Amino acid sequence: MKSTNIVWHQGQITKQDRQQLNGHKSAVLWFTGLSGAGKSTLSVAVEKKLYERGIHTYILDGDNVRHGLNKNLGFLPEDRTENIRRIGEVSKLFCDAGIMTLTAFISPYRRDRNMVRALMTDEEFIEIYVKCALDECEKRDPKGLYKKARNGEIIGFTGIDAPYEAPEHPELVIETDRQTLAQSVHEVLHFLEKEGYI
Ligand code: ADX
Repeated sequence: MKSTNIVWHQGQITKQDRQQLNGHKSAVLWFTGLSGAGKSTLSVAVEKKLYERGIHTYILDGDNVRHGLNKNLGFLPEDRTENIRRIGEVSKLFCDAGIMTLTAFISPYRRDRNMVRALMTDEEFIEIYVKCALDECEKRDPKGLYKKARNGEIIGFTGIDAPYEAPEHPELVIETDRQTLAQSVHEVLHFLEKEGYI
């Protein structure tokens, strides 16, 4: 922390006020998994269903955020950690704004994800492990990046020569190599209903 002499300024409208106005709770659906596992696809499909139910949503997506807010970050471990730290803080702000927030970042390090979890209350952070075997992600290779990584054109690619640490206690595991997208969406929605989020 570099800032000194700063004092928190309290507003008059609370998160609870905003949730009441919206008519629903806010939380962070944190999708984590390998590149090509289906995080972005799943988050987009889940957001559509939530929107249709009148829920205020927003998606923070790795590839998109790296075009703007995080364009000064690469893929070294410390850059990924800073990427996730910033998005953790941003998703906390969105949650405070009363929005059902969906994030789609590889977020390969357990410590980084747990750091984000620690920013919020227990109910606010929903870790969703988008699980898919590496060979299936490589077969899908939607952006042609696994091929590049195998050819040595990308160094430090997650799953190839950079680690992915699977969650130990995620709220939800979605196995995208074993079921359809519709089934995966249904599982997420079902969880949110069962736990009283929507
Ligand atoms: S994270 O590791 O810092 O969480 P993030 O989700 O923001 O990653 O970005 C991942 C996306 O960046 C991948 O889907 C892929 O399109 C692209 N990418 C480019 N280089 C790499 C790399 N070395 N490792 C993983 N993904 C990469």
